[in-house]
Amino acid sequence: MTILVTGGAGFIGSNFVMDWLEATSEPVVTLDKLTYAGNLENLSGAASFGDRHVFVQGDIADSALVERLFSEHRFRAVINFAAESHVDRSIHGPEDFIQTNIVGTFRMLEVVRAYWNALDGEEKSRFRFLHVSTDEVYGSLDQGAAPFTESHRYEPNSPYSASKAASDHLVRAYHHTYGMPVLTTNCSNNYGPYHFPEKLIPLVIHNALSNATLPIYGDGQQIRDWLYVKDHCSAIRLVLEAGRCGDVYNVGGWNEKTNLEVVKTICAILDELAPRTDGKSFADQINFVTDRPGHDRRYAIDASKLERELGWRPAETFETGIRKTIKWYLENEGWVRNVTSGAYRDWLGHNYGIRK
Ligand code: NAD
Ligand code: DAU
Repeated sequence: MTILVTGGAGFIGSNFVMDWLEATSEPVVTLDKLTYAGNLENLSGAASFGDRHVFVQGDIADSALVERLFSEHRFRAVINFAAESHVDRSIHGPEDFIQTNIVGTFRMLEVVRAYWNALDGEEKSRFRFLHVSTDEVYGSLDQGAAPFTESHRYEPNSPYSASKAASDHLVRAYHHTYGMPVLTTNCSNNYGPYHFPEKLIPLVIHNALSNATLPIYGDGQQIRDWLYVKDHCSAIRLVLEAGRCGDVYNVGGWNEKTNLEVVKTICAILDELAPRTDGKSFADQINFVTDRPGHDRRYAIDASKLERELGWRPAETFETGIRKTIKWYLENEGWVRNVTSGAYRDWLGHNYGIRK
């Protein structure tokens, strides 16, 4: 039995594909458009699994291609990671977010609906479509408010989160209306290996080591709930195998930190592992810059349903996970160099050039 992973050349998707190849004996087909965020180098480890891994470059919105993949491989499950994922890019240009996150998910659902309708017996009852979503669909929490549960109302604030919210609603509707066996996970901020350095944690590690400033939006007191990426992968595997069809599962690290705390922690670990030659701290490179428009103040996930019903808890604390992550970036300078050339520099000019 084969699974289809969309967006499997991105940050979380590639960690998931490798995790799946190592933890199971099932084959995987990865479908990825290879946008700026997709990188085949993230999947170089998959080569050692021979023909258990097949990579296909393509768009989830290309129905003919997705239909062909279904008829060739008779998938037993789809894990839909493919998305435009960066909030700042969605503010600069929302169009791609609407196209991939909404239209793309809709087209996938349509192909899957036809395929699933034609199945019978165990193949039909076993089939699952797992949609990977975000805590950002719930909006911003006040200080002291209880973390997001699965029944928290949707209040997306950025074009990114609005497009993910729309895709979540489509997935929900396909279960309610057509009875399709869907699962949705809403996860908090991930970090770990292969995280593209447009996002806070890898950007700060990369800038620190490049002797550049560490840009903190606004006052740096915004809170995110950080989860080591491999813990997200184990949660998805569990939900796929044991989750209840039609249900939503929140995934989070129980690790609320302000952005300033996160950046100072990274600086302290770098001071220890790769000290500056002038003896100063990397924290001296911190620079407060113009805030993100509509910046959500706080996200926090209540992951107790996943623990209660499926027995999942994250294995890493922020302290253990961030140390592993920093070590990975120190040992993989070649990967960082390859992804920070060309178009990446254009993005930095675009996003940070306009911030005071
Ligand atoms: P990413 O940007 O690193 O990777 C996205 C991948 O999708 C890339 O490989 C890209 O090439 C591919 N892709 C984009 N458009 C496509 C299309 N039309 N067809 C096929 N492939 C396409 O993103 P990520 O951080 O790995 O996030 C993966 C998923 O997890 C997303 O759905 C995101 O919303 C969700 N999520 C991310 C986080 C996080 O902290 N990064 C947290 C919760 C949920
Ligand atoms: O919460 C889950 C979401 O986490 C995912 O759905 C998104 O795909 C993922 O990108 C992430 O969104 P964020 O906007 O929280 O992540 P980002 O790394 O872009 O920013 C984290 C925090 O750091 C946020 O409050 C903005 C701030 N920030 C970010 C950058 C890039 C800075 O202060 N400076 C920066 O240069």
